[in-house]
Amino acid sequence: MTATTSRKRIAVVPGDGIGKEVIPQALEVLKATGAPLDFTILDWGADRYLADGTTVPPDGFVTLSGDFDAIFVGALGDPRVATNIHAKEILLGMRFKMDLFANVRPVKLLDESLCPLKNAQPADIDFVVIRENTEGVYMDMGGYFKRDTPDEVATQEDINTRKGVERIIRFAFDYARTHGRKKVLMSDKSNVMTYAGGLWQRVFKLVAAEYPEIQTQHMYVDALCLQMVRDPRSLDVIVTNNMFGDIITDLAAALQGGLGMAASGNIHPGRTSMFEPVHGSAPPIAGKNIANPMGSILTGAMMLAHLGFTAEAAKIDNAVFKAVQEKKTTVDVGGSLGTKECADWIKNQVLSSRA
Ligand SMILES: NC(=O)c1ccc[n+]([C@@H]2O[C@H](COP(=O)([O-])OP(=O)(O)OC[C@H]3O[C@@H](n4cnc5c(N)ncnc54)[C@H](O)[C@@H]3O)[C@@H](O)[C@H]2O)c1
Repeated sequence: MTATTSRKRIAVVPGDGIGKEVIPQALEVLKATGAPLDFTILDWGADRYLADGTTVPPDGFVTLSGDFDAIFVGALGDPRVATNIHAKEILLGMRFKMDLFANVRPVKLLDESLCPLKNAQPADIDFVVIRENTEGVYMDMGGYFKRDTPDEVATQEDINTRKGVERIIRFAFDYARTHGRKKVLMSDKSNVMTYAGGLWQRVFKLVAAEYPEIQTQHMYVDALCLQMVRDPRSLDVIVTNNMFGDIITDLAAALQGGLGMAASGNIHPGRTSMFEPVHGSAPPIAGKNIANPMGSILTGAMMLAHLGFTAEAAKIDNAVFKAVQEKKTTVDVGGSLGTKECADWIKNQVLSSRA
């Protein structure tokens, strides 16, 4: 997207648990950048579901797509809702019904102290995972035969469409091109999952030919896990399917300081996209002012950059970097500040960078 000065309308779903703490703090930081954003807070989450049975209001997704430029989500999941039906309908609903097919997960180490790897420096960990978000084994297709008998059979289908595979691989190459990245690595398990893997392999080669300036590489996902720990510096852009992406992004989060530091976007280019920190609602620490707000704040910066406000996004990234350097952080990443105090420090840093 190009830089713009027109006001952008943001739908905000703080959600449940720590989402209700970290998202308001991230909004304060976003406001401090001066970017022309108008926020509409939506009460979708466990409280609403328990009060009136609503998960997504009628026409909810149509309204999100039609009336907003982006969606900013905290986390969904509440022990009072045993089935987590509200979380499933809201989050998977956005991904599937709004066709947000590209899950983008930047993985960047801000300080050596945050990484569990011995001697890892910030320059060693700076890559992006592009996860297919709408297909694979997450489509809930399958069934049981002879259920609850000793002869039970369960199947779970792995759906890979030519259209879906091609658009996520093309997205990864476009991302590399527009973000000055040099290499796209496709990861699968085509040695044993031969049909799905075969499609990914063929399409990867075809699409790669259109991007001659970008290097390509292939790794089986088990080998990639080893590589992420042994030589993360070799990684640049990784593209993979829904389940492998889900798994490797948690490993990636550990490399950058844990779930509290990780940001993500769920994107369909040209359409209303959704941005959310990677962590869940963390019920045991909710309401205690100890949750790390940086994942949400960095997610806000990602959303700003997506909307064309790259200078404002950089101000947030720089402020978070400084907070980490000066240990103005929450306890999970080595500081001693509360959620609000950490976010306030970052907000003030952003404000002073505008002066
Ligand atoms: N995208 C989402 O909304 C999302 C993602 C994952 C889990 N969930 C839901 O969240 C609930 C809890 O799930 P979980 O415990 O598996 O995952 P979680 O991410 O909520 O917590 C995992 C661990 O990380 C810690 N943690 C998470 N975020 C943190 C933060 N910002 N600061 C400090 N520590 C943080 C938690 O205290 C916990 O120890 C469940 O209902 C689950 O379904 C939602």
